Amino acid sequence: MMMTALNPQITYNVDFLSSPMQGAEDADLVKRLQVAIEAGTLASKLIQEAFKKQRVGGQPESTAKESDDRDLLTQLDVACDDAIRCFLKQKFPDDFQLTEESYQEGWPFTLESTWVVDPLDGTRNFVHGFPCCAVSIAYLVHGKPKLAVVIDPLHDEVFYALKNHGAFLNGQPITTSPVPQLSDALVSVGFPNAAGGMFREESDLFLFAVQRANGVRRLGVAALEMAYVAAGRLDSFCQLGLSPWDVAAGYLLVQEAGGLATQWHGEPVSFADRRFSVLASNGLPSIHWAMQEACQLTGVPQRTRRAYSRLVF
Ligand code: IPD
Ligand code: CA
Ligand code: CA
Repeated sequence: MMMTALNPQITYNVDFLSSPMQGAEDADLVKRLQVAIEAGTLASKLIQEAFKKQRVGGQPESTAKESDDRDLLTQLDVACDDAIRCFLKQKFPDDFQLTEESYQEGWPFTLESTWVVDPLDGTRNFVHGFPCCAVSIAYLVHGKPKLAVVIDPLHDEVFYALKNHGAFLNGQPITTSPVPQLSDALVSVGFPNAAGGMFREESDLFLFAVQRANGVRRLGVAALEMAYVAAGRLDSFCQLGLSPWDVAAGYLLVQEAGGLATQWHGEPVSFADRRFSVLASNGLPSIHWAMQEACQLTGVPQRTRRAYSRLVF
């Protein structure tokens, strides 16, 4: 099946799927994947237009507001969220949706047949005109991601994955890197925007990575950093205090590309949690375990959810 989305020059060919379709469930997921790419494309076009205008005017995003925890919110975040929500609702009226901008603190997460959406990941980059952001859409059944779409609208890149069928970038299969040693690895260590975060632990990890890895980066776009691990551009990514919409799609991309995604102590991510840590890697033990050990040595407690609400938020 061929699909055209973000860039009409590029086709997103789901015939590349690596193993045969298994009946009605897979067929339904392929349909949803196509819809997810279309929904992500709607938001991506809004982001592209807004970025062009912003650059022409040379003005920072005028409507950015900073809330208490230093999360930025712009009209563009809301417009992208609305566009994706309405499109998905039209196509799948019975599904639940957990989107960053429609979520209200304290709501329980329903993850039975749920779209988990970050309409604009990397808002701070966008506001500063730093060309690095993403649209992230995942579809979860019983709390597990079944399909993932991460679009980088400013570089025309569409990453997508279907559970048990591989991960792709603009129609080509992707795999995590073969880099076996941390000393050869390019790793990204993220920092939450939140004021009062676990800065000592995060800086300890950053320092460890600077000393032991081949290079350290921080894009400020968690969904894209996970996609980059899936595509073998980064060998590892780790961050504290992430939310389901930051990670759900990237998590499946990494797994389907042959990598490993856990929390800092190696435990699985639960998307029913409001905040959690993430450690993604190419899946090779020497990289994942080295980073996991370093994460643990920072002293971040394993009971992350409680620890975050006590220490961070
Ligand atoms: C943020 C980005 C950033 C991460 C923050 C997130 P937003 O998402 O993913 O990389 O460090 O923790 O909140 O606010 O731009 O959607
Ligand atoms: Ca985000
Ligand atoms: Ca966002």
